[in-house]
Amino acid sequence: MEVITSKDKKTASKKAFELLQEDIKNGAKVFGLATGSTPEDLYTELRHSDVDFSESISINLDEYVGLSPEDPQSYRYFMEEHLFKAKPFKKSYLPDGVAKDLDAECKHYDQIIAEHPIDSQILGIGRNGHIGFNEPGTDFGVTTHVVELTESTIEANKRYFDKVEDVPTHALSMGIASILKTKHIYLLAFGKEKAEAVKGMIEGPVTTHVPASVLQNHPNVTVILDEDAASLL
Ligand code: F6R
Repeated sequence: MEVITSKDKKTASKKAFELLQEDIKNGAKVFGLATGSTPEDLYTELRHSDVDFSESISINLDEYVGLSPEDPQSYRYFMEEHLFKAKPFKKSYLPDGVAKDLDAECKHYDQIIAEHPIDSQILGIGRNGHIGFNEPGTDFGVTTHVVELTESTIEANKRYFDKVEDVPTHALSMGIASILKTKHIYLLAFGKEKAEAVKGMIEGPVTTHVPASVLQNHPNVTVILDEDAASLL
């Protein structure tokens, strides 16, 4: 794992943007994308750049169960607002959170991932060490699956909703096995509340209790932190 620490989120996101541009120059065409507050500045950099994704594919990590693409809290909506409207991809995939048959949707998503091997994968990390919505305890062998969100994740994500009861309790998430197959992983983490998880990911044992620790087994991971997220290393 290469660990890069910058003074703040903005500087760190610029660094991530520069590295991603190198991947693009080297032929990256399929991008694994995350939502949430972590990649916001990176997406701003991309929106304001001359990067052209019109021949590229994006595959997002996850989507809430029960939220349609038009729902402002859905991850599809987030991606449209933060990136896709300004930088359209040839095709952008997210799991369908309102699919009638969620298990079939998981299989379908695995097929999409298999057909488009991911070159560059953007990841955030949960306060409990989750990546995607692979919560602590998740088997490292799983592919796309339905997840029951933990209390800690619901608590962390309630800031986007009017009240905690509105936060969906389930999500569809790409699995750890699929994340491990991506060519180059960028894990971004900012803020003191991520410091514990970052320490576990980098310095702790590889354990399902801290899902991100599995990234120690991947040959090409760039961890990009601000000083607060790196403060316990
Ligand atoms: C989002 C995702 C999650 C987030 C994580 C951190 O697509 O997969 O793993 O990256 O929950 O969320 P933020 O960035 O909001 O702190």
